[in-house]
Amino acid sequence: MVKIGLFDSGLGGLTVVHEVRRRLPGAGVEFYGDNGRNPYGPRPQAEIVKFSRQILDFLAGKGIDLAIIACNTATAAALAEVQDAYPFPVLGVIEPGARAALAASKSRRIGVIGTEFTIRSGAYTRALQGLSPGVQVLGQACPLFTPLVEQGRTAGPEPEAAARAYLAAFRGSGIDTLILGCTHYPVLIDVIRAHLDPGVTTVDPAVETVAQAKLLLGAEATLPAAAPTYRFYTSGDPELFARLGSNILGRPLENVTRVTFPE
Ligand code: DGL
Repeated sequence: MVKIGLFDSGLGGLTVVHEVRRRLPGAGVEFYGDNGRNPYGPRPQAEIVKFSRQILDFLAGKGIDLAIIACNTATAAALAEVQDAYPFPVLGVIEPGARAALAASKSRRIGVIGTEFTIRSGAYTRALQGLSPGVQVLGQACPLFTPLVEQGRTAGPEPEAAARAYLAAFRGSGIDTLILGCTHYPVLIDVIRAHLDPGVTTVDPAVETVAQAKLLLGAEATLPAAAPTYRFYTSGDPELFARLGSNILGRPLENVTRVTFPE
């Protein structure tokens, strides 16, 4: 069985696993959620690189055929450092997200929401302008969104108020496309959409990333296997991970084990 390893700072990466499940029904999954060290967004680059290496070394020991960094922050911080360090391809989500956004945009004004690190790094601006010079990019950090998803507070006054405040940055800006530049954000898609100007398309980079994985893995991954094995590891509370994660994945989550690394 073909196996994909994925990781994130927490639950957000399960939005990418969801896409893997839809598009690559023959592939097994080894997923690591670093919930115990979430969020990554406010951390310095060196620390995010260290965590990414620890997790990729762990996933490499599971015999994976391909890894997806299911985290925009870790992609921005660490992809360049780790992508040639393993005997399997390591994909990030930012380049695929940029390509999908350019395919969707007519106005060539594109918005990006993400963590403080991702927005400050300028990784999306570089990727978008590298592929299409002259495209205009407007970024907005949304630091409260990730903790809300980690706590399962995805509806009600708090996400509502946060979305209103953050997305005001795009009102009347002329963007026609908004990149969900953090894998936690698709969980908040309804509240995000409610605060965008009419006609703005949202882009989830997971779709294009998994399409890229599909090209690399070939037919075995796409043929529905009887029951590909999904295993989950978290540095946080496995019970909480299973409970909140099953809402994101849309199926019960078994096989959740606590695994931590030295600080
Ligand atoms: N899900 C993550 C991302 O895609 C990071 C959230 C965080 O840890 O701050 O950027």
